[in-house]
Amino acid sequence: MLRPSPPCRPRPPRDFADFAPPGWDRPAVERPVVCIQGLGFVGAAMAAAVARARDGAGRPFFNVLGVDLDTGRGRAAIDSLNAGRFPFATGDRALGGAVAAAHETGNLVATSDPAAYGLGGVILVDVNLDLDPTAAGPGAATPRLELDGFRRAIRTVGEHMMPGALVIVETTVPPGTCERVAAPELAAAFGARGLGAEDLLLAHSYERVMPGTRYLDSIVNYWRVYAGHSPAAAEACRDFLSRIVNVAAYPLRRLSSTTASETAKVLENSYRAVNIALIEEWGRFAEAVGVDLFEIVEAVRQRPTHSNIRQPGFGVGGYCLPKDPLLALAAARQIFDRDDLDFPFCRMAVEVNRAMPRVSVDALQGLLGGSLEGRRVLLLGVSYRPDVADTRATPAAVFVAEAGRRGARVLLHDPMVRDWPELGLEVPQALPDPGGLDAVVFAVAHEDYRRLELRDWLNGARPAVLDANNVLAPEQVEDLRALGCPMASVGRGGD
Ligand SMILES: NC(=O)c1ccc[n+]([C@@H]2O[C@H](COP(=O)([O-])OP(=O)(O)OC[C@H]3O[C@@H](n4cnc5c(N)ncnc54)[C@H](O)[C@@H]3O)[C@@H](O)[C@H]2O)c1
Repeated sequence: MLRPSPPCRPRPPRDFADFAPPGWDRPAVERPVVCIQGLGFVGAAMAAAVARARDGAGRPFFNVLGVDLDTGRGRAAIDSLNAGRFPFATGDRALGGAVAAAHETGNLVATSDPAAYGLGGVILVDVNLDLDPTAAGPGAATPRLELDGFRRAIRTVGEHMMPGALVIVETTVPPGTCERVAAPELAAAFGARGLGAEDLLLAHSYERVMPGTRYLDSIVNYWRVYAGHSPAAAEACRDFLSRIVNVAAYPLRRLSSTTASETAKVLENSYRAVNIALIEEWGRFAEAVGVDLFEIVEAVRQRPTHSNIRQPGFGVGGYCLPKDPLLALAAARQIFDRDDLDFPFCRMAVEVNRAMPRVSVDALQGLLGGSLEGRRVLLLGVSYRPDVADTRATPAAVFVAEAGRRGARVLLHDPMVRDWPELGLEVPQALPDPGGLDAVVFAVAHEDYRRLELRDWLNGARPAVLDANNVLAPEQVEDLRALGCPMASVGRGGD
């Protein structure tokens, strides 16, 4: 009779290839290992950028181990990278190509096994750090940071990493996090292993990656800021980044502390959010008095001091801009114990930006004669920005809810997005027959919409058209006028 075999103890994994999926048949080449914690929109792209980095002779510098959680989302990212595919739909062919090339070379493997951190000479932290930005306006309660997940992620790294390895936090964190949260977590994990904190190397270097058609390029060919928790950590961080970033064209900028580097990221995004929010009231003014704010903004931008003034649009979304302006406020309360700092501009910007899609609903209602009741409206674009598949905090959600509340039936289309997980909706990939539509709203400047042959698609139909985000090219506008479609554009009076 066969006896059940005793429970077998797996051999502790020691090599890069031990973390590869079953059937992995790539040549085992020893290289320094870089671990990437979190394979979301940032971590997965960073994994591709690190795996792609080469020395002068064209040899890869690193073997890359991507690590995510054993959750539905984490597993999907892991399986996708292990199959040689970037996990998210993207308009950037270079990124897909870099992942496929790394798969072919055999220097990119993804896993949910945290023991992988034990191999990393460098460990990049690209996990999320959440804060609920709803109801954040002036006078509202201070939004709370969800620090526990970040703490757990750092603690896991500390439990497995080699002494002397470098941890680089890329996650956008409230100022003070590396010094007051990450370093103590790592030191505690080291202490529990009987290791001294003097073997810890911790740095901060924030991501400026821009998902879209220049996704990979925005990591490699772009300026970077970094800082170390110690001089040795700063130098190790500089040496690592110099192999990933094109530092000849984009020299690195070192700041004097991790708190300074964290503050730079939060200020950068707060500045942008406030700049966008400022324009909202000017767009409304332009529409009310019959001037074209785009024309005006172009004139203002001619002044070098004003060259980055924003323009009117559909709204602000994604994982970063809706929450980042609140991170300094949260840091003041939860990390520095300061009740006297309140950031009213940042609070106001978050509120104004979140409500911005209602401007488009108002414009649509005006275009349709004052009521949306029973109207069929096609929303073109539900992602938060052009040529990405990300729907997190997308302004389209506010539009859909508000237009629905006013009685409209909103149909969706987006060439990048198949599922809208936040609303639990499927998004059709084919444009509907325009015959029964009362209105079409161009909300996202996806390349497909800029190239859309409107005459062909409309085929004699004449829905009202709202350009909510400066999507349409002048020839498309001319076509619509010639076809007799009633038109309006957010930020342009007199249409
Ligand atoms: N998305 C952007 O365009 C962008 C740009 C610049 C900076 N950032 C910042 O980068 C960070 C990451 O953003 P994102 O868009 O990639 O987020 P994301 O939610 O897409 O990805 C985070 C990933 O981390 C994983 N994760 C969480 N805890 C983990 C743990 N303990 N171990 C392993 N994996 C874990 C999650 O499962 C998820 O897959 C955020 O701080 C964000 O603000 C994002």
